[in-house]
Amino acid sequence: MPVVESEILRDLWYLAVPGRTLRPGQMLGKQLLGQSIVLGRSASGEPFALRDLCPHRGIPLSHGAFDGRELECCYHGWRFTCDGGCSHIPSLLPTQKFDLSRVGVFQFPCREVQGNIWVLMPADERHLPDPLPEIPVIPAVDASHCQLVESSIFPCSIDHAVVGLMDPAHGPFVHRSWWWRTKHSIHEKAKAFAPSHLGFTMVKHRPSSNSKAYKLLGGEVSTEIRFELPSTRIEHITAGRHHICGVTTLTPLTPNQVELHQFFYWTIPWLTVIRPIMRPFVKTFIEQDRDVVDKQQQGLNEDPQLMLINDADKPARWYYQLKKELLESRQQHRPFNNTAPSTTPPLQQPGPGNHPALAQLRFRRRRAMLSTCQESLSLLIRCIPQLT
Ligand code: FES
Ligand SMILES: [Fe+2]
Repeated sequence: MPVVESEILRDLWYLAVPGRTLRPGQMLGKQLLGQSIVLGRSASGEPFALRDLCPHRGIPLSHGAFDGRELECCYHGWRFTCDGGCSHIPSLLPTQKFDLSRVGVFQFPCREVQGNIWVLMPADERHLPDPLPEIPVIPAVDASHCQLVESSIFPCSIDHAVVGLMDPAHGPFVHRSWWWRTKHSIHEKAKAFAPSHLGFTMVKHRPSSNSKAYKLLGGEVSTEIRFELPSTRIEHITAGRHHICGVTTLTPLTPNQVELHQFFYWTIPWLTVIRPIMRPFVKTFIEQDRDVVDKQQQGLNEDPQLMLINDADKPARWYYQLKKELLESRQQHRPFNNTAPSTTPPLQQPGPGNHPALAQLRFRRRRAMLSTCQESLSLLIRCIPQLT
C-alpha cells in the first residue's frame, strides 16, 4: 500500500496544552495547525483560544498584556474580552460614534477536559460543526489523577507521527537500553481489534502472564488500547480496583512539526512516590523516538516512495483508511462509516531480516512507553532489598 500524505483533519479537537501550563491570568501564543492562536485562562479559571492577530493592524495579541479579563494589544491598546469581542479603543473620542461590536477576534471552541486544554480547529470559521464533536475521554480517571506529563516536538508531518504512534515493530531497535527489551524479545501476543467511534480499539485482554511489571500492580490486570482520529491513543490498564492510563496526543503545529504530549494518569498511590524516578525513563524514551524521526527526515527529504505492509503495519493502514473515509463522508455529506475491521488475524511479528525496510516509517510505540515505566518500576523494586 503506497503512503500518501494527505491533509490535516479539521473540525476535530486537538490538544493544545496541558491545563497546568496556564494559570489564571496567563496567556500564551502558539501555532496550531499552522494558525497563530493565543491561549489563555481567565481570572475565573476558564480557558479560551483566540486568533492571535489584532484586527486593527495585525500584530499578535500575545505580544500584549492580559489582566485575567481583557487582552490589550501592545500597539495601540485596543482591548478584547476572552470571547474575542472588542471592549475598548483608546483613540476613540467620546463624541465619536463607533460600534465596537463590529470589531472582534475569532474565538476557537476551547474546553478543558480531565486536566487538558483542547481546541477545535475548524474547516470553516463561519460554519462550526453542530453539534461539536466529542473530546476523547480517558476512562476511570479525572484531572487529579494526571501524574506525569512530558512533551516534545517532532520534526515530521502528522501522518508520519501517527503511523509511528501505532508502530509495533520499532521498539526493540529504537529503544535499545539496558532497561528495555532486546531485539530478541520482540514477539507479542496476537490481539483482537474492533472499530470504535472515530478509530479502533485493541480490545480488552490480559497482558502476557510472564510480565513481572504487571504483577506488581496487584489484582486482576487487563489492558485496552484505543486510537481515535485525529491523533489520540489511550491505553487503559485495570489492576484490581485501580487504573493506569497512558495517553498520547499528537498536535500538528506546522505542516512539518508535531507536538507530542504523553500523559500518565493513575490511581495507585505508591506509583506517585516513585514518579521522579520514572520521569527520566519517559524522557529518554521520547528522545529516542525523536532522534529516529530526525534521521528519517534525511530520507524523506528525497521524497521516496514508501510502503505499508500487512501484519505489523495494519493499524497504520487502518489509520489512512479511516482518515480517507472521514474526509469523503464530509465531502459527500453522509455519516462516517467506520471501516476498521471488527477482528483481525494475528499480527505477524517482524524478524530482524525484514525490519530495516520498515524502520523508515516508524518512530513510536506507545504501549512500550507505558511498559517502560512499568519495567523501570520492576527494576527499582528488585534493587530495594540490596539497598536496605
Ligand atoms: S494593531 Fe492592535 S491596536 Fe493597533
Ligand atoms: Fe518508540
